Amino acid sequence: MTRRPYIVGNWKMHGTRAMLSEARAIDRAAQRHMKVEVALAPPYTLIHPIHREAEQIAVGAQDCHHAEGGAFTGDISAAMIADAGAKFVILGHSERRTGHGEVDAMVRAKAESALAAGLRIIMCCGESAETRESGKAVAFVNEQLKASLPLPTAMPADVAERLTVAYEPIWAVGSGTPATPADIGEMHAAIRALLIDLFGVEQGAEVRILYGGSVKPENAGEIFAVPEVGGALIGGASLTADSFMGIALAASEPFEN
Ligand code: 13P
Repeated sequence: MTRRPYIVGNWKMHGTRAMLSEARAIDRAAQRHMKVEVALAPPYTLIHPIHREAEQIAVGAQDCHHAEGGAFTGDISAAMIADAGAKFVILGHSERRTGHGEVDAMVRAKAESALAAGLRIIMCCGESAETRESGKAVAFVNEQLKASLPLPTAMPADVAERLTVAYEPIWAVGSGTPATPADIGEMHAAIRALLIDLFGVEQGAEVRILYGGSVKPENAGEIFAVPEVGGALIGGASLTADSFMGIALAASEPFEN
């Protein structure tokens, strides 16, 4: 694959305006790492302030509602986050699936709505510890992705530009222990095969597949060396410019994928 590694920070429910200085530092550092595409998904409240100041990084959201608008108290639509300056949205994160009862069909509806609003999407998938222990991780992720991704007919022609997939095994998220390179490699190869099956070789082979789950500057190099890893989706280690850009630095060194 020839595309730049994609390094995305998911700030989750962390960050008030006091964090704007950290976002500024990330943006400045990203200008020195042009071999890597750096992006940040802060809480909704920080999308516009970060977008307004950022010169290099793209800003995105961590979720959106599937409807264009209406009587949905507390929700926010894809068009609204785009209006605030978001260029992408993370969808189907395990914390949304388990904490907010988001099922695959709901995630798909959100994805189609986000694409219609002109956003790029980062579609998350990943198995639980129980599923991995039962030996069914690859089959589970395959089914979950197939049911969560927009139907091929709903995808714009430039699939590889608009879609990124993030493999985040639930047991690795926030645990301090990432999946092993062998497990990541096996899963990413299976996801690649599915993407080619769904979207054809020209687009399916170019969609970036990120790994997420306890990525840190210390383990990033080993993870980026795994075939078919096109970058990372990072939680805890994206909260400071130092650790986040340490990961971006690891991605800017040559790695095979
Ligand atoms: P951690 O990097 O904190 O494990 O979180 C990963 C994640 O959930 C990113 O979306």
